[in-house]
Amino acid sequence: MRKPVTIVTGAGGEIGHELIARLASSGSVLVTLDVMPLDPRLARRVSRQFVGSVTDTSLLERVLAEFEVDRVFHLAARLSTRSEFTPATAHHVNVEGTLNLLEFAQRQGESHGRPVLFVYPSSVAAYGLADPATKARAGCVREDEYTHPVTLYGCNKLSCEQLGRYYTRHYKQLSADVTRRVDFRAVRFPGLVSAETVPSGGTSDYASEMIHAAARGESYVCFVRPDTTVPFMTMPDGVEALLKLASVPRACLTRTEYNLRAFSASAAEIRAVVLRAFPEATITYAVDEKRQAIVDSWPADVDDSAARTDWGFEPMYDFQSAFRDYLIPAVRRRYGRD
Ligand code: SER
Repeated sequence: MRKPVTIVTGAGGEIGHELIARLASSGSVLVTLDVMPLDPRLARRVSRQFVGSVTDTSLLERVLAEFEVDRVFHLAARLSTRSEFTPATAHHVNVEGTLNLLEFAQRQGESHGRPVLFVYPSSVAAYGLADPATKARAGCVREDEYTHPVTLYGCNKLSCEQLGRYYTRHYKQLSADVTRRVDFRAVRFPGLVSAETVPSGGTSDYASEMIHAAARGESYVCFVRPDTTVPFMTMPDGVEALLKLASVPRACLTRTEYNLRAFSASAAEIRAVVLRAFPEATITYAVDEKRQAIVDSWPADVDDSAARTDWGFEPMYDFQSAFRDYLIPAVRRRYGRD
């Protein structure tokens, strides 16, 4: 008999690290898929790891044959900066990979006769504000506003939100006898900051890079202007939000994708709080105009009221407590700076 499990794709990435720890401690049986073998500490917490790509449908067939999947956390993606260098490959991974997983979830559901929960991290990159004046005027952006992304990654995230909505509500609408089995739910994450891992290939990476470099005693050159402002949240809050969204009854959800945020901060504000904790650190600026333009197209803040109302989203950390109670103590421990 096949075993009921949760599958996590992109398991070795930043979100995967924290999510696997949380899911494993709550007793979930986990199967993972990542292009790289998992870090042994992570591997110990999962029942089975598949090394391979979400674009490999024969690998997904093998998972389907062996396991009974009830939940999918589809985290695998190429981030915003990296995707700009190889747009066709990024599209293949980000969109076709997601389509493969949605099809996989539908077929899983058909085979075991239950809905398959599909949790998807979309991004603030789904927004595109035309210029700084528009960004200043826009304030806290709602989910349906300004969805004209300037990056391929942002376009991919929007497409996948729509694909998920399609599979949940309209899949094969012209065929008789189709039972839709995908229950897709997405969050639009702001910049995520973790004390445990450093992102790679994203454009909001400067926040994490600044903190980790200071804690390691390395100097850091920030690639965006001091006034650059976007929303952020800590990784523990991000993972908690994914788990909470996964746990609510479908009937509570009024939309497919939900904005999330914990605080909005400028690069200068983040630099100041990092320097207060590590006064000997050197953090300077050398603006990369192209990456700057990407962050400038993202809203300074987002309106998360739909997530709060529909499923009780409430981050634990605001700007002050994120640094005081989580990031600074945890990076100190991580790099032996206690
Ligand atoms: N943090 C991501 C990036 O910078 C956005 O979701 O690409």
